Amino acid sequence: MSERVIPIISQPLGNLPIPQALKGPAWAPGQQLLDQRNRPLRDLRISVTDRCNFRCSYCMPKEIFNNDYVYLPHSALLSFEEITRTAQSFIALGVEKLRLTGGEPLLRKNLEVLIAQLAALKTLDGQDLDITLTTNGSLLARKAQALKSAGLKRVTVSLDGLDDEVFKQMNDVDFPVSDVLEGIQAAQAAGLGPIKVNMVVKRGTNEQEILPMARYFKGKGIALRFIEYMDVGATNGWRMNEVMPSADILKLLQSEMALTPLQATQAGETAERWGYLNEQGVHDLSLGEIGFISSVTKAFCSDCNRARLTTEGQLYLCLFASQGYDLKALVRSELDQSALTQAIAAIWSQRDDRYSELRVSEPASDKASTPSGAKRKVEMSYIGG
Ligand code: GTP
Ligand code: 5AD
Ligand code: SF4
Ligand code: SF4
Repeated sequence: MSERVIPIISQPLGNLPIPQALKGPAWAPGQQLLDQRNRPLRDLRISVTDRCNFRCSYCMPKEIFNNDYVYLPHSALLSFEEITRTAQSFIALGVEKLRLTGGEPLLRKNLEVLIAQLAALKTLDGQDLDITLTTNGSLLARKAQALKSAGLKRVTVSLDGLDDEVFKQMNDVDFPVSDVLEGIQAAQAAGLGPIKVNMVVKRGTNEQEILPMARYFKGKGIALRFIEYMDVGATNGWRMNEVMPSADILKLLQSEMALTPLQATQAGETAERWGYLNEQGVHDLSLGEIGFISSVTKAFCSDCNRARLTTEGQLYLCLFASQGYDLKALVRSELDQSALTQAIAAIWSQRDDRYSELRVSEPASDKASTPSGAKRKVEMSYIGG
């Protein structure tokens, strides 16, 4: 029997005051906005719903996210117009990539309408934005074409195994693998690439799926990324002994496949990328690549350029934060666009978060820790992945 203790509360703890928001400019157009650790703002993750049709044990465990769980009412959600307006301010500050997340983002009605609004925006250099979406794939076969037509560039699909029994144990709603694979194929056919597949590895639950997943996606033009099970949120009962370190996954893969490390293409990337060697020992691009996202054993906070906008319009500066800043109140107030941009700049310029880095440097602990101030961390289904 595991001795996990699961707190019943999983609502956020209220908002932080917006620093200097209305007191004077934190940033001037044309200037590079940097946080306290010299990190620019490049990636905005927008959660469009806190609901999901899966109950992955590492994210929305059934014991908590049951019939009694209170999700956000529709009136609390940012409207598509409000999201677009907020995104415009982030783009003015240097954001180039937008990721729609959830919960499961494809559960939000008429999501294509939002995508079309966002796709009409341009980066500061006048380029198209990199607009992508994280999905569990369950509704993708049905929606891929409409998403592409609306202006979505690519998708990342979560899939934790190829064996139905193992996958059902992970999603906890009896969802079959074949439907997700169909979704991935539909996304490929619609041109929503390059497609990535994210696999969270939980030791003792789905590690036996690592090699089958690598074999299956090799040479299919899809990047498979292995994610260390993280101590995000406060409900998943995280334990270090359920984390399979990326180094162990790599070793396992190398017992069967010849791999070579690849250079990072962008600062702040989450994944360390590896390519396949052919029989002559030469890197073969056509076989695709795999990635390792090691936020437990090898933090990547030093270049973290990601901001998160929750479904109800709060800005979070770190996946492991306890509190966010209430942008919804600003968006719904009489403030003009540049005042909203200044408020976000003021918040970003004071950012100092680096949770994973601090966690790695802590003395070994097998239980989840909490950030400074010992407050409860927000749930990933609320903040977006
Ligand atoms: P690409 O632009 O496609 O490379 O996406 P990405 O890797 O930036 O984002 P994605 O949402 O695919 O991230 C994959 C997983 O990495 C997430 O589901 C999280 O588990 C983890 N992750 C993403 N961003 C962060 C982060 O800022 N901090 C930590 N600790 N983990 C993160
Ligand atoms: N650890 C690692 N990744 C997680 N995700 C959600 N919860 C966790 C966790 N505890 C990520 C997975 C999933 C995406 C939606 O969120 O990558 O694919
Ligand atoms: Fe849903 Fe994704 Fe969380 Fe699983 S990881 S419960 S699919 S939001
Ligand atoms: Fe960024 Fe926080 Fe993740 Fe570090 S832990 S990479 S600061 S979101």
